[in-house]
Amino acid sequence: MTSSALNKASEDTLESRAKRRILRRLPPPSTPTAKSVIDFTSNDYLSLSVSPHLHNHLLSTLSRSETILGSGGSRLLVNPATHHDLELRLATFFHHTQEGTLLFNSGYDANVSFFSTVPQSGDVVVYDEYIHASVHDGIRSGCRAQRRVSFRNNDLASLTSVFEELLDNVDENGLGLRLRNGTSSLFLAVESVYSMDGTFAPLKAMVQLLEGLFPCGNAYLIVDEAHATGLYGPQGRGRVALEELEGHPKILARLCTFGKALAATGAVIMTTPLVVRYMTNYARPLIYTTALSHLAIIAASCSFDMLEDGTAEALAERVLGMSRWFSKQLRERLIEEKIGIEILRVGIEKVDQREPEKWSLHFHSPIIPLLTSPPLSLTETKSYSPAHDLSSHLLARYRILARPITWPTVAKGQDRVRICLHAGHTEEQVAALVEGVVEWGKMRARVVQEDRVLFRTRL
Ligand SMILES: Cc1ncc(COP(=O)(O)O)c(C=O)c1O
Repeated sequence: MTSSALNKASEDTLESRAKRRILRRLPPPSTPTAKSVIDFTSNDYLSLSVSPHLHNHLLSTLSRSETILGSGGSRLLVNPATHHDLELRLATFFHHTQEGTLLFNSGYDANVSFFSTVPQSGDVVVYDEYIHASVHDGIRSGCRAQRRVSFRNNDLASLTSVFEELLDNVDENGLGLRLRNGTSSLFLAVESVYSMDGTFAPLKAMVQLLEGLFPCGNAYLIVDEAHATGLYGPQGRGRVALEELEGHPKILARLCTFGKALAATGAVIMTTPLVVRYMTNYARPLIYTTALSHLAIIAASCSFDMLEDGTAEALAERVLGMSRWFSKQLRERLIEEKIGIEILRVGIEKVDQREPEKWSLHFHSPIIPLLTSPPLSLTETKSYSPAHDLSSHLLARYRILARPITWPTVAKGQDRVRICLHAGHTEEQVAALVEGVVEWGKMRARVVQEDRVLFRTRL
């Protein structure tokens, strides 16, 4: 292919994306402290990225550190004491073994490493339909598992029927028999908090299901705590800790990432010493990359100081309380203004709406999706996106930055504006968000009404 043919092919593909309004591009440069917009988009749930306390703590720790630059190479080549010490510390913090604790440069690398290497031929990977792209990429890149099968998001009935189908399987070289007699293994991949919906995997029920259906002990839960780390459980140790499942033999691996609530970078997997030794031999994203710099490890360590000293727990309580207030307030205002769920749906229901007084903070997440309806059949083109429109409205009128999320990041028909609340948001800012959304909802309701009238007159 000549270079002009390459340019044409690339441009045509990108243009097609642009026409379908799914073109990805870098947003304009921003700084976390910029006052021009109110950030309801980043994953800075605890507002640690703008915490003067953490900022000063990091600077003074760095000024006392002998080595802060670079890391010198792959972990397998250099293994700096800084990295080893953080693993040691995290093992203690997460009530785990040091030999079973392994750092990665990112959560993405950690998931790709685990899923591309640990499942063996003849094994099965079962994953939630909303599992993160990094798990898919791990399964795609070299994973030898015989079957990969999804189940409906957080749906125990769907999961049970997937398990039963696998156990009853009489073909595929006796897959069912091997799963029943324990000669094949099953890996169940879930996120404790789903990044786009803010819903929770029912971890305890899943552990019980694995125990009941796979008595040979050959089925394992792999929990991605990327959006739970720092927010839930004692000291922010995540939902595995909250559900008192730390150290449970069914949980083969637990992933905590540092780039979201912790305002740092990197990730850690807590698994068995054998899996650590296995990944050290085969996981390419661990072997063939330069380890995180000392600077990054020190930064992550300072963030964990915030978890250990209780700072994070107080911030988490604040942001989860705000989430409860925001979703309740917005629902009430939408009902008041007669804006139905065909226009806008607030969140994916997590709790019994009839008993709001029983809503515990633990049922709330700082991620609240505002699901918009599809474009109108008569008056709007297919490329019109209500989610983009809502996002633009919030930015133009309220200086609120809340990004639209559309296919292919979420399933078709699931377009939304994803709201991420932060501990540092003020009540006025959250109240402005409620009003901005309601204002847009009222405008949208009028347009929908006009479209209906037009539809009737054409009949
Ligand atoms: C659920 C989940 N897992 C893993 C990752 C990857 O983590 P990291 O950003 O550290 O690569 C993300 C981040 O987008 C995520 O949302």
